[in-house]
Formats: sequence, structure tokens, C-alpha cells
Amino acid sequence: MSDPKTVKLVDESTQRSSTLPLVAGTLGPACIDIGTLYKDTGHFTYDMGYGSTASTKSAITYIDGDQGVLLYRGYPIEQLAEKSSFLEVAYLLLNGELPKAAEFASFEHDVSHHTMMHESLKNFFQGFHHDAHPMAMLAAAVASLSAFYHDDLDVENAADRKLAAIRLIAKMPTIAAACYRYSIGWPFRYPRNNLEYVDRFLHMMFEVPSEPLQMSPVAAKALDLLFILHADHEQNASTSTVRLVGSTGANPYASIAAGITALWGPAHGGANEAVLAMLQEIGTADKVETAVKRAKDKNDNFRLMGFGHRVYKNFDPRAKIIREMTHKVLGELGVNDPLLEVALKLEEAALKDEYFVERKLYPNVDFYSGIIYKALGIPREMFTVMFAIARTAGWIAHWIEQHETPGSRIGRPRQIYVGHDVRDYVAAGKR
Ligand code: ACO
Repeated sequence: MSDPKTVKLVDESTQRSSTLPLVAGTLGPACIDIGTLYKDTGHFTYDMGYGSTASTKSAITYIDGDQGVLLYRGYPIEQLAEKSSFLEVAYLLLNGELPKAAEFASFEHDVSHHTMMHESLKNFFQGFHHDAHPMAMLAAAVASLSAFYHDDLDVENAADRKLAAIRLIAKMPTIAAACYRYSIGWPFRYPRNNLEYVDRFLHMMFEVPSEPLQMSPVAAKALDLLFILHADHEQNASTSTVRLVGSTGANPYASIAAGITALWGPAHGGANEAVLAMLQEIGTADKVETAVKRAKDKNDNFRLMGFGHRVYKNFDPRAKIIREMTHKVLGELGVNDPLLEVALKLEEAALKDEYFVERKLYPNVDFYSGIIYKALGIPREMFTVMFAIARTAGWIAHWIEQHETPGSRIGRPRQIYVGHDVRDYVAAGKR
């Protein structure tokens, strides 16, 4: 028997029906194309939180949440984490193939030569109070890039799109470091083009005029790995936001600024900051049991931050890699952080608790990343900014793919209206 190629939906009350094609990808389940459903039956579909809805076709990243598989352009995350670098992964996400040596050299040159912030952009920071959250400054500064590069940008032009991608990947660490330095009252540092991507960022973060910075290869390697693991994750909330904004024809800086704000929420990228806050609040391993109890209590809005995922119903492969790396990095840096013991105890307790087992709640990418950032001297408020630097590669790859896909349409969901039926206006004195 051959596989069914269509699915038939019948409204039994009206007998109107729709025969809907199944659309198969290279991997993963086939999807029912419901494009003609409204015309055929007069009904929309309803899928709160998009649990069963594919919003696009994409050739960038594949996740099998049941098996714990993550592929960038077909390459397993484990192999990229072991053998690649963030900048090479960024090239891969953007271009679809791993670069040959000359292609990589040219890409690295282009990124290195677009790292400067416009001097006027620096003035924007002065408008923020010193304790402004760095994610607020980052979103505003990236949106402001539109003001500098909007006029000479044609989103329909492939070369312009590529230049915007280079600019965003190049400038994001410069802007991120400026957010940090502004918050602690340090002078901004110019990017050093002779340094590699991650070293350049660490230099802009931590160098002070009064003494030379001792660069740590261990710190750079750890950060590069974290950037690889965070570079893309198919149609997550922030990437879908970038695509929705991009579908209107908005410029890439505006689209990615929207992605940054979506990432900030604690249910998404903000979880890395929330995990560390939670571990600090728990404080010691003997309080883990109480935390697990609270997380299970439906009358308590406390959740185990860094646990659970919409797609992974098995170990998040990124969490596995980061977990291993945490021990290694802390060991190599000679950091003894008691929060690691709390995290390990919490993971152990949750993984054998029926509540978490039944719901297939496992540690996600953010559970251990904060402990590493902390060991690298990166403050908690900057954790989601770190995530944003890395995810920019994925966001802009998706934005470009969207613009290269023929027949792309503005994203415009429907709704189930549950408000008042039509009613007449009542004069103020008669209400
Ligand atoms: N702690 C306690 N219970 C949880 C948790 C958690 N972290 N996550 C999910 N649950 C429970 C829910 O209460 C729900 O229980 P119920 O079936 O009895 O009602 C069940 O597990 C399913 O959870 P949902 O919220 O429906 O799952 P959803 O797919 O909508 O949410 C999410 C996924 C947002 C990641 C959620 O697991 C969560 O809030 N986790 C904590 C925040 C976090 O770590 N976010 C980072 C995700 S990774 C990333 O974006 C980079």
C-alpha cells in the first residue's frame, strides 16, 4: 500500500469537505497543507501556541525532539561542536555549505571589517540610565542600525541582504560589549580586527585602559562552543518573530531587533538569566527537594527554569554537550562554583521525579550555560545578550531564506473571536 498523499476533512454538519495535500520534507513528519481549508469548508484551524503547525518550509535546521537530534544544514550539532567554530557555523547557516578555505578567509575578512559601530550610535547609549537592562539597550541599538543603513538597503537585492547579514554578525558583539561597559561605567572599546571573532568580543568586554588584558584560550574556546550551540534552532519564538516581521518587508535590523525582544522572555532565551537567579535563590543542595516540590505545585507559579522544551521530549542534545563542558571549563579555569552542585542535584532530583518523567521534562540548553558564563566573568544580566549574539547568525539566515523563497506572503494569523456580538453605542450619561 502506498503512503496517503492527501487527508480529507469533512464538516459533518454541512457535508462540506476539503481534500488536503500532504507535504513531505526530507526529514520529519509530513504536514497537511490547509491552504484551501477556509475556501472549501468555511473553517479556520486553531492551534494555540502552534504545537501542530508548520509556519514555513526551511532547509536550515532540523530537530527531532523525540530522538534528541539537532542538525544545522544536515550536520549533527555534536560534530559541529567538536570540530567547527562559530564563524564557520555562521557561514554554514547563511550559505548552506561548509566553506572552503578561501571562502572562509573571505567571510572572516568581511566580518572583521564591519565590526565598528557608527560613532553617532555610541551617543544613543548616553540616553539610558546606567542600570538599564542590557537586553533593552541591545534591542534599541540594533533597531537603530536601521537609521544608519536603511536608505541604501534594498531587501529584494541579494547583495544588499548579504551585506546586512555581515554587518549584523560583525556588529552584534561590538554593541553587546558596549551595553555591558555602559552599565558599569567603563569606556567603550573599539574592535580589534586582528583578533578572532570570540577573542575580539572578550577583548571589547574586559580590556581596561590601565593594564593589558590576559586573554584566556579556555574562555574563548568555551564561549565559541556556546555560540555554536545557540546559533540556530529552527522556528522557535524569536526566529518566528524575525520571520513575521520580515514578512512585512521590514528591514533586517528592525526584524532582528524584534527577534531580540522575543528572545528576552524567561520562557525563551531569558531562561539562562532566570536559571542562575533560581540556583542562587535555592542556594544550597539541601534546598533542592523544596524547589522540586514547588515546581510541581500547580498553585505555585515557580517553574524549574532551564527545564522543559516545546520540541525536545528527550534530552536536549545541546544540554548534554554543555553539561560535559561545564565540568571541564570550571576545572580548567580553576573555578569552584557551589551553584554547580546545586544544579547537578536539581537535575538528578527532577530526572527521577514522576512529575518530570511523565511530562518528559529534561534540562534544556539554558540549564548549565549560565554557570559557564558566570565562570567567564560575564554578569547575569548579559546572559541573554550572549544568546542573542549567537542567534543572530540563525535569525539572519532565516530572514534571507524567507526573502529567497518564491511566493512568500505576509504572515497574518486568524483568530477565534470571543468578544461581544455587535451592539449599539450608549451615550455617556446612560451607561
Ligand atoms: N517546571 C515545572 N513544570 C513544567 C516546566 C518546568 N520548567 N515546564 C513545563 N512544565 C509542565 C507544565 O506545567 C505542564 O504541566 P501540565 O501538563 O500538568 O499542565 C507540562 O509540563 C507541559 O508544559 P507546557 O508549558 O505546556 O509546555 P510548553 O511546550 O508550552 O512550554 C517551555 C515549554 C516554555 C520551555 C516550558 O517547559 C518552560 O516554561 N520551561 C522553563 C523555562 C525555560 O527553561 N525556557 C527555555 C526553553 S529553551 C529556549 O527557548 C532557548
